[in-house]
Amino acid sequence: MEVEKAEAFHEPVMVEEVLEVLKGANGGTILDGTLGGGGHTEAMLSRWPECRVIGVDRDPEAVQAARKRLQPFSDRLRVLEMRFDHAMDDAQMNQEGLDGALLDLGVSSWQLDADHRGFAFRRGLPLDMRMNAAGGGITAADFLNRTEEHEMARVFREYGEEPRARGLAREIGRRRGGRPFRTSDDLVAAFSGVLGRTPRPREMARVFQALRIVVNQELPVLSQTLPRIRDALRPQGVLVVISYHSLEDRIVKNSFRDWSSDCVCPPGLPVCVCDQVPHGAPLFRKPQRPSEEEIQRNPRSRSSLMRAWRKAA
Ligand SMILES: C[S@@+](CC[C@H](N)C(=O)[O-])C[C@H]1O[C@@H](n2cnc3c(N)ncnc32)[C@H](O)[C@@H]1O
Repeated sequence: MEVEKAEAFHEPVMVEEVLEVLKGANGGTILDGTLGGGGHTEAMLSRWPECRVIGVDRDPEAVQAARKRLQPFSDRLRVLEMRFDHAMDDAQMNQEGLDGALLDLGVSSWQLDADHRGFAFRRGLPLDMRMNAAGGGITAADFLNRTEEHEMARVFREYGEEPRARGLAREIGRRRGGRPFRTSDDLVAAFSGVLGRTPRPREMARVFQALRIVVNQELPVLSQTLPRIRDALRPQGVLVVISYHSLEDRIVKNSFRDWSSDCVCPPGLPVCVCDQVPHGAPLFRKPQRPSEEEIQRNPRSRSSLMRAWRKAA
């Protein structure tokens, strides 16, 4: 699908806060690992005339929109259409190093609003949810049709905090024997069967979140990528991560804590045996949140949590 208005693609969150923590990188190379519609990258490239950005997104529609929007800066922008963990194999990035990096996780407004992607809960839509459909991988429908019930229950519980996870998994297992799941209506029908009533949009949103996370392997990809970005940062380089739910934020918080600690021995050891030297330090103790004014203007920024970490000199 052609993306007509790049600016309408996604409203970037906490732009001024991101620029403030990345300002030390303003003459160098910055990785934007989640380019989306290019909002954060545009802010950096327009504000900082010396800076170069490597923009990565796994979604071809995002890459198309960003390329269009960022055309005026094409001499200072390199775009990679791939997952950010795969981008960390890029030889140039590893040789030259990064002065800053940004991950603005999750999905863009475009992805949420586009019916054909099936990310947000609306009736009668295909259960797809892959960020890169052309790259293969299982769809949400495949997951529901093929996964063992106990694994489905784990995903609904852990990734969606769904209290009726086991009942829902059992109901899906029972129904798919008759007719495979294809659309959101099939999932609503299964959930209605468990609840004895039509699920509320909030309840459906939790199950959708769980499916999106598992279909795109969001959490393992994040855990594996963070240390690789840390290693690619130059001394004093800063990594900024904006997450949208507690599962992502916990991974970021724990990584930043471990990298900043002088001991990562398992608890209970009488003496330290790890000899770890801290790699750097977090810039804030608590995650930063958007201002009330931003939340009013852009309600989708409400759940965003920003953490930042600076590599040692
Ligand atoms: C919240 S949006 C980013 C919006 C962007 N900061 C802007 O200003 O428009 C998240 C984007 O990250 C992409 N994404 C999520 N996980 C990814 C991954 N593992 N690798 C590459 N891109 C990813 C999504 O496709 C989506 O376009």
